[in-house]
Amino acid sequence: MTRHLLTGAELTADELAGLLDRAAELEADRHASEALAGRSVALVFEKPSTRTRVSFEVGVSELGGTPVVLRGDELQLSRGESPRDTARVLSRYVAMIGIRTGDHGPVEELAAHGDVPVINMLTRDHHPCQALADLLTLRERFGDLDGLRLAYVGDGNNVAVSLMVLGAKAGVDVVVACPAELAPPEAAVELARAGATGRGAATVTDDPRAAAAGAHALYTDVWVSMGDDPSVAAGRRAALGGYRLDEELLAAARDDAIALHCLPAHPGEEISEGVLYGPRSAVWDQAENRLHAQKALMELLISGA
Ligand code: CP
Repeated sequence: MTRHLLTGAELTADELAGLLDRAAELEADRHASEALAGRSVALVFEKPSTRTRVSFEVGVSELGGTPVVLRGDELQLSRGESPRDTARVLSRYVAMIGIRTGDHGPVEELAAHGDVPVINMLTRDHHPCQALADLLTLRERFGDLDGLRLAYVGDGNNVAVSLMVLGAKAGVDVVVACPAELAPPEAAVELARAGATGRGAATVTDDPRAAAAGAHALYTDVWVSMGDDPSVAAGRRAALGGYRLDEELLAAARDDAIALHCLPAHPGEEISEGVLYGPRSAVWDQAENRLHAQKALMELLISGA
């Protein structure tokens, strides 16, 4: 059966643990796998990207494959060809499809109508590849994930949702602290709770200090995301002013807590410069881990294709 990664809920807890183990092996030996030898992977970017684009392109190459990177405006999708027909056609050429786009629906449509694995490289609703890298980073810093506490502060966006879905599955107690009007959708919180294992949990609060108390990691993301209407920016900044990841909030967490950010960052806005570039920042390892986690993911998905 063709496997996909659209939200992260597709993975069992055992598969997720195995994927992170494998990612660590591929980090130790970047050329240990030829899982994509002789195969091509389409990587469709309808939105800008630095980390996702480069880590996937390099990752496919390191697995022995050929990346075919396409901007959205280069495809007939941009002129109205359906995701359904696009999936059927691309499946005749490539072994896997990655897509970054706005709405989540077209990604589901690609997966439903193609014959090859589809990877969600970010939609407005989910960013599962980021969460895989985040869990790998936590594992490197703290070992066993079960029972760790991760506090996400800021906009309850796609990154927060994927942290809840995949974090709870890995046994992490994920607390999202955000203003009520920017909370993740209840359905996403329920999805995370349905897949939770061990001490994994997904909760939402409006109190960033309560969330940070006892946390192993504090995490934030930009206050205005790609695709947000520019007219919302001022309101977002006003609503999120109390949800900055700064030295004061880090002091409320464990003494060994790390700071995470999926990047790109706006130092001085959602995260202070001192935290972003300070000794407790793990964001650069986090960015590197996109590569290792996604290679393990592609290896897993191609093995079942
Ligand atoms: N974190 C992340 O997805 O980065 P890019 O937007 O640069 O790909």
